[in-house]
Amino acid sequence: MKIIGTGSVLPKQIVTNDMLSEFLDTSDSWIYPRTGIKYRHVISDENLEDMAVEAAKKALDNAGIQASDLDYIICSNVVNEYITPSLSCIIQGGIGATCPCLDINCACAGFIYALDIAESHFKAGRVKNVLIVCAEEPTRMTSWKDRNVCVLFGDGAGAAVLTEGDNIKGIKLSAASATDKLYQKRVLEPTPYITKEEHSESLQMRGQDVFKFAVKASSGDIKYLLDNLNIAPDSVNWFLLHQANIRIINTIQAFLEQPAEKFPTNVESHGNSSSASCPILLDECNRKGMFKKGDLIVMSAFGAGFISGAVVLEW
Ligand SMILES: CC(C)(COP(=O)(O)OP(=O)(O)OC[C@H]1O[C@@H](n2cnc3c(N)ncnc32)[C@H](O)[C@@H]1OP(=O)(O)O)[C@@H](O)C(=O)NCCC(=O)NCCS
Repeated sequence: MKIIGTGSVLPKQIVTNDMLSEFLDTSDSWIYPRTGIKYRHVISDENLEDMAVEAAKKALDNAGIQASDLDYIICSNVVNEYITPSLSCIIQGGIGATCPCLDINCACAGFIYALDIAESHFKAGRVKNVLIVCAEEPTRMTSWKDRNVCVLFGDGAGAAVLTEGDNIKGIKLSAASATDKLYQKRVLEPTPYITKEEHSESLQMRGQDVFKFAVKASSGDIKYLLDNLNIAPDSVNWFLLHQANIRIINTIQAFLEQPAEKFPTNVESHGNSSSASCPILLDECNRKGMFKKGDLIVMSAFGAGFISGAVVLEW
């Protein structure tokens, strides 16, 4: 398969580090050096499903195909206001498609996992065109009283349209269960039979454990893929990494011994938008005309689970 169109949408409300320090015991001088984040886009009056539909329409427009040409829609989402129906079904209706659709929850690695599912459908000859939409509102998962977590995230939606081709050179997925390091719990509807104690918790994170996992998993996935494909890091034109923390990106960059110019970033202005992070960055680079035909691109992401994944693709 190959990517033929991209699209993305951000909420209009911008929240700077200085705005956070008006109600939290934090500061730009703490946040920026540790994360690389200056501001993030946060949902206010928008609905995530509308943003997802708009990102999908932009990607279809960019690809030059119609919603009726789609054979499958995969939506990556951790949480949104609807528990059911799936966000992919909402997107299907919103863009006027009629194909089957599927939601996945692979946290921040969702775009890579979605590419892997799409690739299997292409390989089986079941599809000609697939839409992937990653839409996330992590700012609704965090407590805005918890400075450890809420300063890191922003919302957004990113989409990509795929068609038949041989531009995906390889995909590597990994998972290592760690349910106490990055998680959120919610209490479901009560029943007369529930006897266990239950409580809801906002997104909880052991930051340093996540940091170590992120560096190890992403570096490992990328190295495994490049070694297996016999591609030297020097031959890769672009590394599009999950935009969680500039220090994580810089550490992976140092491990790969590649120049910073090959690592486009938007973490400074977006924060971590979970699985939307990679396709938003892909769309921004695409629309700036940064990619040339034949460029080799590595994408890599990690997240709650823990899970991670990387892909090598030719533009
Ligand atoms: C969260 C993270 C930025 C913290 O950086 P760090 O270098 O581990 O933090 P430090 O050890 O320098 O600082 C921790 C201290 O700062 C405090 N602190 C935490 N958040 C703060 C904030 N927003 N403002 C001010 N102080 C803060 C803590 O309370 C702690 O104080 P203590 O030592 O008195 O207990 C870093 O661990 C990280 O980015 N981890 C990965 C997170 C991530 O990517 N999550 C999403 C994955 S998909």
